[in-house]
Amino acid sequence: MLQATLECLRYWRREVIGGFAYRRALSKAGVDLGSVSLRRLGLDPRSAHNHANSGGPDLEVVLRSLEITPSHAVLDLGCGKGGALLTLARFPFSRVVGLDLSPEMLDIARRNLDRMGLHTVELICADASAFDAYDAFTHLYMYNPFPSAVVQAVMTAVEASVIAAPRTVTVIYKNPRFHDDVIRGGVFSEVGRMDHSGHPYIIYRNAAVSGC
Ligand SMILES: C[S@@+](CC[C@H](N)C(=O)[O-])C[C@H]1O[C@@H](n2cnc3c(N)ncnc32)[C@H](O)[C@@H]1O
Repeated sequence: MLQATLECLRYWRREVIGGFAYRRALSKAGVDLGSVSLRRLGLDPRSAHNHANSGGPDLEVVLRSLEITPSHAVLDLGCGKGGALLTLARFPFSRVVGLDLSPEMLDIARRNLDRMGLHTVELICADASAFDAYDAFTHLYMYNPFPSAVVQAVMTAVEASVIAAPRTVTVIYKNPRFHDDVIRGGVFSEVGRMDHSGHPYIIYRNAAVSGC
């Protein structure tokens, strides 16, 4: 009973008070994180999913559990308008990078990041299914950005990267529709699951190797 009451209070503090303060601060700064449909973006549903924001108090809970240090660098695959980047940049990663297929989303992301004074966050315009420069990253974030075929292409490239540059890589996958594609190669396995928000998060890691 006490446990349930505490959990309820935590939920209210995070979702209602924290969520309100977060949205108010962003809207005061003129940050645009509104949803955008694939049709508006002119993207093919076989290779992309709609834009929606996943930054804020829920993502902070996940990141706090991961003990981020300056030896870590993170890439948000399908960063959209940069909502998750705004939250990732509050943690001590040495590099925070966003990648998106849509130049329009990236223009808005740059503006949002600038409005929050986050000028060092890097943005890359690329199709994730063709991207293969993963060696610099220890953490990857995905908010259900693309369909199965693209998740498979991403994981194939990430698996090659941990062989070429041995290190532990943590994948944070929110709304993990294509969980099977992340673990299919046998290199990454689920190490944690968090259900505190509308969509679950699954955390994956490759087996421990020397490196950071
Ligand atoms: C759900 S939004 C994610 C927004 C952001 N990651 C967040 O959590 O706030 C998905 C984004 O993925 C992008 N995207 C979809 N398919 C992609 C692909 N194949 N390569 C790169 N970006 C892609 C879309 O343009 C869209 O902006």
